[in-house]
Amino acid sequence: MREQVQAIKRTVKLAPSILAADFARLGEQVLQAERAGADRIHVDIMDGHFVPNISLGAPIVKSLGQVTHLPLETHLMIFNPDLFFDEFAEAGSDSFIVHWEGNCNLHRTIQRAKGLGKRIGVAINPATPALVLEEVLPDLDLVLVMTVNPGFGHQHFIHTTLPKIGRVRQMIEQLQPECELELDGGIDPTTARLGVAAGAGVLVAGTSIFGDSEGVAAAMKRLRAATEEPMNPEKGSVCG
Ligand code: DX5
Ligand code: ZN
Repeated sequence: MREQVQAIKRTVKLAPSILAADFARLGEQVLQAERAGADRIHVDIMDGHFVPNISLGAPIVKSLGQVTHLPLETHLMIFNPDLFFDEFAEAGSDSFIVHWEGNCNLHRTIQRAKGLGKRIGVAINPATPALVLEEVLPDLDLVLVMTVNPGFGHQHFIHTTLPKIGRVRQMIEQLQPECELELDGGIDPTTARLGVAAGAGVLVAGTSIFGDSEGVAAAMKRLRAATEEPMNPEKGSVCG
């Protein structure tokens, strides 16, 4: 059992999502996250069509680049994301995450991002099966499994995505072991443990970091601690 626990132990990266930040104090809060050990900053872009909400644009990415040294990960919850690659690349995005569901020519989109020298990830919604990734996985730097339906922060983690996270992890090990497996939506210390046990290596978190009454640093510390506790993969509980 000890070996099994060790096998799933890896350093988990944290990607605070600014969607839950106080935009009047955005720079300050991002710096707090950076000082508390964030690995990258997750920027949620919504177009009001792919998801029923609108959010941010390239100017925010540009401004963030002036306050943080962390990589800026751009989650494009929009149709036809290629149309905006140049704009976001110029603003300073380090990586793009596009949705499998938002793109008719995903292979071309992936190659375009690579051509711009950007890391590229593909996101799948809760209703989308892991298998759709098979043909593109060898070209990816990251797979994002949505653990809520995209469009809003502060939603509940959808537990039925857990077996899919395990299936994506298996596919990654077989097809592209360097590829990261990231989760997005409803991540708090409890769901972080479950997601990591299922195979995740990167966690996006908005509300549980920027909405914490004790502040960003305390929230990040709790989240980090949760990801470092060994899990019993058979029982889904913390090992004694
Ligand atoms: C949801 C976004 C998420 C969101 C997560 O559509 O893609 O990145 O900010 O927020 P929380 O952590 O509050 O679920
Ligand atoms: Zn996101």
